[in-house]
Amino acid sequence: MILSIESSCDDSSVAITDIKTKKLIFHRKISQELEHAVYGGVVPELASRLHAEALPKILEECQPYFENVKAIAVTNAPGLAVTLIEGITMAKALSVSLDLPLIAVNHLKGHIYSLFIDKETLFPQTVLLVSGGHTQVIEVKSLNEMKTVAATMDDSFGESFDKVAKMMGLAYPGGPVIEKLAKEGNPKAYPFTIPLQQKKIFAFSYSGIKNAVRLAVEEGSEADYANIAASFQEVASEHLIRKIKKYLVEHPPKNFAIVGGASANLYLRNKVETMLAPYGAKLHLAELQYCSDNAAMIGRVAVEMYRAGDFISIEELQASPRAPL
Ligand code: KG4
Ligand code: ZN
Repeated sequence: MILSIESSCDDSSVAITDIKTKKLIFHRKISQELEHAVYGGVVPELASRLHAEALPKILEECQPYFENVKAIAVTNAPGLAVTLIEGITMAKALSVSLDLPLIAVNHLKGHIYSLFIDKETLFPQTVLLVSGGHTQVIEVKSLNEMKTVAATMDDSFGESFDKVAKMMGLAYPGGPVIEKLAKEGNPKAYPFTIPLQQKKIFAFSYSGIKNAVRLAVEEGSEADYANIAASFQEVASEHLIRKIKKYLVEHPPKNFAIVGGASANLYLRNKVETMLAPYGAKLHLAELQYCSDNAAMIGRVAVEMYRAGDFISIEELQASPRAPL
């Protein structure tokens, strides 16, 4: 079995995955959403302290599996430096005390492998990764053949939901709150401009929408919030669709997947399904509980790395907060 640890942002999570069957044996996650909610976003130092409390608690529950564990895997990149270090420190301590090899897992690869928890892999995939930290389109041929073909130039898709929720004085994380509020509103009420429409570049941008929404919130009353949320969600999703649609004409997908915390958004999922219809491509989604950050997806990547003998020494294992895929 592999014991995997995730602490790249505000979720403390540990999982145990069977190397042979690739089955998830144990998975626990302690989310810090409530603690960060008062600040309207993640406070890195607070997150770090909470990981230091939560991770050892979860680890205690894993003790019955220790004798079967063959390697320790941990997210080392990308993420918040001070929170990555919490998971890495625990991984190193376990590696020394149990005399086990270490595996360093890229968090973005983890999100992609959330598609394959308790399943075999299926490639190629054109993947839309939408989370709090990332908005990317990635062409995936295998674990080590992943190419980012588009990314955001500023804010991410999920982050923009968090910021809009904060503007309205609503809870963190903003994604689920805004999606719920948007159901009561008219998506055409506010004609916010879709970004980068006239530009050929395959990239995303959310800072313009954010500023337009800020103005609407400041000028409107609380009674307008549902319409603002619905119009924001429409433009934020339509922006992704318009850009990806153009790309797909020249790169028709066999399999298309949405991963990351914001892949839980049903409004976006429906739009992507419609976009894919002409290609007959199947839409792949992770189970809802594995969309947001978790150690199960890190363990799933680690199983492949273990089989390939892809280990890292204790000295080499460091946090790389800004590392790409
Ligand atoms: O993947 P994740 O748990 O953490 C990162 O790696 O960033 O994603 C969290 C992000 C947050 O910004 C949250 O607001 C967003 O995903 N999110 C959503 C929805 N559920 C979560 N965004 C839009 N609609 C949702 N239903
Ligand atoms: Zn994530």
